[in-house]
Order: sequence, then structure tokens, then C-alpha cells
Amino acid sequence: MKDIIDIVGAQNIPNQDHQNIVQQTIHQFAESLGNAIDAKDSCTSSHSEDVAVITQEICLQMGLCQEDCTALHIAGHLHDIGKIGIPDSILKKKGSLTDAEYEVIKQHPVTGAGIVGPVEFFSGDNGIARMILHHHERYDGRGYPDGLKGEQIPLGARIIAVADTISAMMQDRPYRDAIPYDRVVKEIENCSGSQFDPAVVSAFLSISDKIETYISETTSAYDDSSSFPKP
Ligand SMILES: [Fe+2]
Ligand SMILES: [Fe+2]
Repeated sequence: MKDIIDIVGAQNIPNQDHQNIVQQTIHQFAESLGNAIDAKDSCTSSHSEDVAVITQEICLQMGLCQEDCTALHIAGHLHDIGKIGIPDSILKKKGSLTDAEYEVIKQHPVTGAGIVGPVEFFSGDNGIARMILHHHERYDGRGYPDGLKGEQIPLGARIIAVADTISAMMQDRPYRDAIPYDRVVKEIENCSGSQFDPAVVSAFLSISDKIETYISETTSAYDDSSSFPKP
């Protein structure tokens, strides 16, 4: 962090802007890394960006402060960074996975938390590293890697879990076509209290029209152009 501030300082930028530039740079690095993991698998292009945007919208709806919403947005970009450690033969496999292959997939939250481990800014009980580590936990305790339950799961991870599922269901996968948005909304609602935190589901349901508009606009942007749409 100090090095970035020193570089910014060397550019004769007023002191009050330093912090903003550092935050922007952290966000842009997170977005770059998210793009890197999305580029690894054409089926999931824009997934990290979509999760970052949907996560932030739910966060705002839940009334969390701007600082928390920004952290959640960054965590959304980075949530699947651990997939960089999964061999393509497993990640892009068209058929069903063996138990051993599924165990490899299940390692990606641990790998991801390890990748961002050296970033001190991401540490702490409610830090970005723990959001990445626990984004596949389930509210009923049947998720992974640690089987955490309810509020044992960091709030950020509970929000990312909902955003992640929305984005994943809306994309074509080797083993199924994209699911229509009205069915996605129903599925999220049905899993309230089992897979997902009811408070997060409730916040999503109250902004589901806004999320649908965002997804339809970005999907058409990807169809029309190779440039990355911005939230
Ligand atoms: Fe972003
Ligand atoms: Fe994941």
C-alpha cells in the first residue's frame, strides 16, 4: 500500500486524492484478475464482473455502508480467483464430474483465499479473503469448505453466494443452457433459508427488476462487442 501511495505522490497529485486513487487501483487490479479467471473459460465470460455488480446492488439494498459495498464489489470480482489452480480438463469438462474431480473443484475457495493472502488490506474476520474462502458455504451448513452455518458465514460471503448463483444460472454451461430469469428468481426464492440467507434473498427480490435490466444490457453488450461493459 505504501508503495502505491509513494508512486501517486510522485505524480504531484493533491494529498486528498491519494486515498481515492489507491482504492481505485485496488478495484482495477481486482477487476483485472477477475477478467483473467473469466478468460480461462469462455462459458463464464463476464461472470466475475456480473457477480461484483449484483453483489454491490444487494449490499446497497441491505443498507450497508459505502465502504462495505466497495469491499463486497471487489470481493465479487475476485471470488473465483482460485479456479486458476483447477486444470482445464476438469474446469471445462462437458460430462459429469467424478467424485475426485469434484473434490478438486471444491478446493478453489481455499486456493483463492491463499492467492489474496499476502494482501493485508483483504485480511480480517470480515475481510475480502474470508468472503472468498466462504462463498460456497450454505446457510444450512451443508456447504464447503468448512460447513459453516447461518451467521457463522461472513455476511459478504452470504451475499456473494446469491449473486454467484444468479449469474451462473443465467449463463450457458457445457452441461445445460442458460436458465430464464423468472426461473432463476423462483429458484433463489425457493432456496431461502436452506442454501441462502433469507435477509439476502429478500433484498435481492426487492431489486430483481433492476438486476434483470443489468443482466439483459450486459448480455447484449457481449453479443455485440468484445469490450467489457461497465456497471
Ligand atoms: Fe468493478
Ligand atoms: Fe466459486
